[in-house]
Amino acid sequence: MEALVMRISAKSLAVTMLICSVAWTAGSAQTAGNKMDSKSDRWWQHAVFYEIYPRSFADSNDDGVGDLRGIASKLDYLKDLGVDAIWISPCFPSPQVDFGYDVSDYENIDSMYGTLADFDFLAGEAKKRGIHIILDFVVNHTSDQHKWFLDSKSSRTSAHRDWYIWRDGKGPGQPPNNWVSVFGGSAWKLDPTTNQYYYHFFYPEQPDLNWRNPAVRDAMFDVTRWWYERGVSGFRLDAVDTLFEDPNLTDNPIDRPGKNAFGDPFLKNQYNTKLPEVHDVLRGLREVANEYNAVLIGETWTADVAELNQYYGKANDELQLPMDFLFTMVNQLSPAAFRKQIAEVDAASGWPTFVISNHDIVRSYDRYGDGRHNDQIAKLMAALYLTLRGSPIIYYGEEIGMKTTPPTRLEDVQDPIGRKGWPQEKGRDGERTPMQWSDTQNAGFSNAKPWLPVPETYKTHNVASEAKDPASVLEFYKRVLKLRRANEALLKGRYVAINEADANVLSYLRIYQGRGVVVALNMSGKRRKISLELKGNGVVSAHRLLATGQSSIEGKVLSLAPYGVWIGEFSK
Ligand code: NOJ
Repeated sequence: MEALVMRISAKSLAVTMLICSVAWTAGSAQTAGNKMDSKSDRWWQHAVFYEIYPRSFADSNDDGVGDLRGIASKLDYLKDLGVDAIWISPCFPSPQVDFGYDVSDYENIDSMYGTLADFDFLAGEAKKRGIHIILDFVVNHTSDQHKWFLDSKSSRTSAHRDWYIWRDGKGPGQPPNNWVSVFGGSAWKLDPTTNQYYYHFFYPEQPDLNWRNPAVRDAMFDVTRWWYERGVSGFRLDAVDTLFEDPNLTDNPIDRPGKNAFGDPFLKNQYNTKLPEVHDVLRGLREVANEYNAVLIGETWTADVAELNQYYGKANDELQLPMDFLFTMVNQLSPAAFRKQIAEVDAASGWPTFVISNHDIVRSYDRYGDGRHNDQIAKLMAALYLTLRGSPIIYYGEEIGMKTTPPTRLEDVQDPIGRKGWPQEKGRDGERTPMQWSDTQNAGFSNAKPWLPVPETYKTHNVASEAKDPASVLEFYKRVLKLRRANEALLKGRYVAINEADANVLSYLRIYQGRGVVVALNMSGKRRKISLELKGNGVVSAHRLLATGQSSIEGKVLSLAPYGVWIGEFSK
């Protein structure tokens, strides 16, 4: 795979960088998504996942940074929203160079987030509410402060030397090859102690592990067991494409002329990403996960669905939920573009996973919003990814219409890639701002100054105010999720596209054992009518389950408000 981290610039709203004891009882073999029926489906196929960026969710000890006790205090909120599983971005000990994606100890909790006892408390409280916990496993690299790396760099003959990738330079001052870090500069750093270079796909403080070393594999597999035994129900696997590199260190070819925001050439990451050996590791991790009925979610940047299929594994024995980032790249309200992407992923060899935002991507509120109808559009997008056949992952704050708020001054930037790439690349602070709980000071996130500023919109877009407003984005999320939970067609039904030539309205059916739901989404700013000619499905009539704006049905004609949503049930 070429893509690893996708950045969508807040300014241009265009893709600017395409680098590309078990909580629940043990289970058995998994099934291909398309062939799922009620007897063989798995908990994660019906679950609604919710990504929490722990620094920004809820601060219980007033140090301006969120923590595990803070998350625990919001479990009732999450339950009420309709969440079944929370994915917590890395909360392990870390120097925080990449805000936790530089782990210095995989089997502990960073003191800024609490303690292992706080984790156990959170896990216990989550379990009481039937909420699964998914941790973020940074598999490709550790922190340069991890004890493995400290030993590795100490001498050429140290016990952990071969746990990382060390090479001689080509000549004085020359790295071993032309590979470039996705976060800027050469992917090699010379370490003066042993006068060799080590490889880092990300920051120099994130040295790549050598996955060709069986000891690395064993140690990392054991980490997953350790957390499963502590009650974790799965992992989101970080940057899986980058686990292996060509042992011959062949130079990467130039992809296109010019320089990126960091002043580096555009290279095709042919020899340091997506090597076939990745799949052996994923199969191994899956075998361990199966012992615990756990789920593996992948950060899988793929060029197309054929590539996505590889991550499910030939025998559906790799990741259950590789994320389809191609869906996040449909950066326009285009029924045709969504139809195409949905059809492709619906035909994938495993169960689809839908995300519209995360901690690396400009929020959907800004990507799709037109500046005037953003709330309606946020509901439209919610209706889309929460009613498709697959497991949705909600990024915290999407459910209240949080907007991306990038820094305006270089001196305010926290994310190192923003400091390095300024002003072309402003970093990812904008999509990581504190959760907006209320219209009180610091949006109710903390009593101290938050680590990132709270967006101005906290006065209007916050949990407390929206919970009182039936027309809010939050209440809409709750209603769709409630409907989804209660409706077998939405949970398990086939996806059938209808009115496929319509340029303005995206509409489809979900059909399960004679029960069906129609979803119609007006992706335009004008009122639109569509005819519900559900040919071949023997539909007699449809009645409304949920709608926004003045959207209604008369006979078979559906009239949709601008950016309106209509979800109905049809009977035969
Ligand atoms: C992908 C993560 O989502 C991103 O936030 C992080 O910087 C890189 N992997 C490196 O771990």
